[in-house]
Amino acid sequence: MSERSPVSYPTHPRPEVLTLSPYIPGKPADEVKRELGLERVVKLASNENPLGPSPRAMKAIEEMAASAHIYPDAAGFHLKTRLSRVYGIPTSQIVLGNGSDEVIMLLGQAFVRPGDEVVMGAQTFPVYKTSTLLMGGKPVEVPLKDGFLDLEAMASAIGPRTKLLFLCNPNNPTGTMTRKAEVHRLVEAVPSHVLVISDEAYAEYVGDEDYGTLLPHLREGKNVAVLRTFSKIYGLAGLRVGYGLMPEYAAALLDRVRLSFNQNALAQAAATAALDDREHIHQSVQVVEEGKAYLYREYAAMGLKAYPTWGNFIMLDTGKDCQAVFRALLGRGVIVRPTSAWGLHTCLRITIGTGEENEVLVAALKEALREV
Ligand SMILES: Cc1ncc(COP(=O)(O)O)c(C=O)c1O
Repeated sequence: MSERSPVSYPTHPRPEVLTLSPYIPGKPADEVKRELGLERVVKLASNENPLGPSPRAMKAIEEMAASAHIYPDAAGFHLKTRLSRVYGIPTSQIVLGNGSDEVIMLLGQAFVRPGDEVVMGAQTFPVYKTSTLLMGGKPVEVPLKDGFLDLEAMASAIGPRTKLLFLCNPNNPTGTMTRKAEVHRLVEAVPSHVLVISDEAYAEYVGDEDYGTLLPHLREGKNVAVLRTFSKIYGLAGLRVGYGLMPEYAAALLDRVRLSFNQNALAQAAATAALDDREHIHQSVQVVEEGKAYLYREYAAMGLKAYPTWGNFIMLDTGKDCQAVFRALLGRGVIVRPTSAWGLHTCLRITIGTGEENEVLVAALKEALREV
């Protein structure tokens, strides 16, 4: 809903709410099947794991189902304890969220006052902007350099009213990675009143030694936070489990803001079990690596520019109106994400699927580009 909307409000909303646009999620496969009368639909729009959840997670859900009448553990003891061991970070520095989306919203609620500034990429994960606008803050959107976040420009965009700075690494929707040296320079340059947040939703897919995760900087005691999720490689997007690793003072503040039972019991149990399933993670990485190689070959053969990716999705420049290509693909039962909401009017963000799904996509894309 925009400020220009003709709707009248018997009860007046906060003006900040009118600055928000509803989030447009990837179209659900069932909806497309119903609308177009299709039997088979391939969804490559939300960067989910095509292999599904870890079998260990499914077993944990079954076992926990009989206790669904009991409130979940508000402190998330088991999951936090496991995460603490995995990262070598005390549980007092971990915040669990209803997806990492919620942790982003909590950061805004805990830190951003009207007029405060939050620095982020101009084409990046949209929830950083939502959490800023909702609190009356000002998003400072820094242009990317050929699809890569420009950390020098982001550091220069910091002013006295800056509270938060969001890196998205790898960046959604471009798939690009920020390297260690750049991240190091940024952390050194940022004044201590700014909390630097690295959203690392796709970290497990990166496989690059030069990956600039903020984890070492957090361990060193810097004013930085790392966000991770079970929605991507762990295949648990439907359960909504994410978390933030941050300095103790920040975790304690977020704990005041969050709802006590923000993470349900099945989700906590599934996530705890999924963390240990190395085989599932290994297979998931393999599917993406094979798919990536195949898709880059096919896109190059079609003469299309595909951005380099370190995630489980590729941003593809079709050279045509991406909404038209999106609709042409939809008619063929393939759901992708057009990037027009980011001001990129010829690109699509396409999740890497199974081998078979990728083949369906390529065949449909060839037809769609002939049609549009
Ligand atoms: C960069 C990034 N951060 C966060 C999220 C949200 O993840 P979650 O499902 O944990 O809320 C996504 C989901 O697409 C994402 O791409």
